[in-house]
Formats: sequence, structure tokens, C-alpha cells
Amino acid sequence: MHEVVRLRRLRISPAIRSMVRETDLRPSRFLYPVFVREGEGIREPLNSLPGVERVSVDVLVNDVAPRAEELGVAGLLVFGIPSVKDELGSTAYSREGIVQRAVRALRASGYRGVIATDVCLCQYTSHGHCGVVRNGKVVNDETLELLARTAVSHAEAGADVVAPSAMMDHQVAAIRRALDREGYTDTLIMSYSAKFASSLYGPFREAAGSAPAFGDRSTYQMDPANAREAVREVELDVAEGADIVMVKPALFYLDVIAEVRRRFNVPIAAYHVSGEYAMIRAAGRLGWLNDLQVELEALMAIRRAGADVIITYSALEVAELLRGGR
Ligand code: PBG
Ligand code: ZN
Repeated sequence: MHEVVRLRRLRISPAIRSMVRETDLRPSRFLYPVFVREGEGIREPLNSLPGVERVSVDVLVNDVAPRAEELGVAGLLVFGIPSVKDELGSTAYSREGIVQRAVRALRASGYRGVIATDVCLCQYTSHGHCGVVRNGKVVNDETLELLARTAVSHAEAGADVVAPSAMMDHQVAAIRRALDREGYTDTLIMSYSAKFASSLYGPFREAAGSAPAFGDRSTYQMDPANAREAVREVELDVAEGADIVMVKPALFYLDVIAEVRRRFNVPIAAYHVSGEYAMIRAAGRLGWLNDLQVELEALMAIRRAGADVIITYSALEVAELLRGGR
């Protein structure tokens, strides 16, 4: 009987292939991470992240955001590079902080994409940890207050989505409570729910200047060995009011994305992180593979695994490629 079945008929032409394609990839699913710093007219290329730059607010508003919008990219995920750091990361939650100013300027510019902000302390603390440090330990509950203040200050500046990435227990509940108390009931929380203690964040830490000064992040970020625990993290965040949950990194954790997809009905974001991007780009530079095509395949894999939203440094280039009809 099987000789009547010919699967190659489904691949016979571009029109047939596109008609039966199971997964589609659209820029309206992409969030583009941006690194914003002080100054004016600045575009500072990043050694470890080819094609990505640290930009000043004016460049973000006049160049990066309009380009992303024009390409149909869903939105921006804003990371701040502060010029001042201290023990408690106070520039993370100051009204005049770099993220707060960037978000206000984006809002004022009429940018229509989604404005999401990373909520964490590590770029802002002198020790580079994601929370308050007491006696060499990152303490949970004292950190919650500062994360909540940071999130409220981003919402006040006009962020649509706040994205807590510190991996403190109950950070979503603390942020939701603070946002609601201040009247920001419409601000979404995209929680970095299952964020693994990965070596793939290296290029990002160089870009953001956020490497921890001592120890590592394994007392708060997840053990890469644990998939069941990732489900527990997501469960808690959903109960605490997360609107969107995230798995991070993406490519090395496709099984986790698929499992979360199977078990929950919330939108899932996946962060195709700096190390994943850098490896592919590096091989491209060496002439070993076509890096943009590999990126396209990587993003398709992340979608196929079940992610709704993809955070990627390739957002603009892949959007351009998709517009060309690949
Ligand atoms: C900070 C943060 C990190 C990333 C996003 N937010 C780094 C870290 O946890 O050290 C990583 C992003 C990437 O590697 O692209 N909390
Ligand atoms: Zn952090």
C-alpha cells in the first residue's frame, strides 16, 4: 500500500511547499534587544556580538526603532548601560536612569512597536550580581523591593512590557503587586521564568558590562540539567501573574520550550542568546557556513518547538531576508 504514498509530492513546488508549511516565521514574533548608553550620536560596535551596537538614546529613537518598525519587528527589548554603578544598583530604578530616558524618548517619538524592558540589577550593581549582596550572598527578599521599583519606573516611563530576569523567587508577584498599586494594571510582565545558568551569556556580559565580580549565578539561575524544575518555575510564575513566560537560552533548551508548550496555555517567549548568536556568526565569518541562513533555521527551530515570541539579535537581518521572500 505504501507505494501510493509519495511525500515528495508535497515538496514539488514553492507554492505547494508554502501552502503546507507547518510553522511560519514572521517578524511580528521578534523582539530585538537593544543596548542603550549615555551620550549622543553614538554607535559603538560590540566585539563579541558582531552586528550589534551600543547606541545612545538619539540613535535608538531616530535610527534603530524606525528601522525595526519598518521591517515589521514586534518590538524592542531595552537593556541599559549605566555610567554609574553602586552596591544597590540605584541607577536601575532612578527616574533619570538610562532605560527610563530611552523609554520616554521612544514613547514621545510615536514608535508603534512593543516597548519591553529588562528588569534586573546586574548592569547597575558594582558587584555585577542580579540582586542585593549581604555577606557574600545574593539575598532574595530584599532584592524584590528593588526589582519592583525598577519595574514601576519603567512602566511610568511608558514601557508596555517589563521583563524581570533576576531569577529571584516571587519576583513576578512582587512586581505585579507594585504595578497594580501604582495604577499600571495594563503593563504586561514577561518573566524570564526558566533562565538557566548558562555559559552562553558570555558575549552579552561583555556587551552589557555585567559579569559578576565574584562567584557565579548558580544560586539563582537554573541548573542546565533540570527540565522538570523548569516546569515548576513556569508554574509559579503563571500563578504569580506572569502574562508571558520565557525559556532562556533557546536553542540548547528546545526540549524545555516544547515541554512548557505542552503543559501551559500562556504565550511563551524564547531568548536566542548572545552565545548562540555569536557561535553562528563566528562560523559565518570563517566562511564555514552561511550564517544568515543558519539563523533562519535556528529561529524556525525555536518556533517549531513552541515559542510564540523570539528574542533575537538577528531580528532586523532576518526580517529583511523574510521580506525578500527567502
Ligand atoms: C541579565 C541578563 C543576561 C541576559 C539577559 N539579561 C545575562 C546574565 O544573566 O548574566 C543574557 C542575554 C544573552 O546572553 O543574550 N540578567
Ligand atoms: Zn541580572
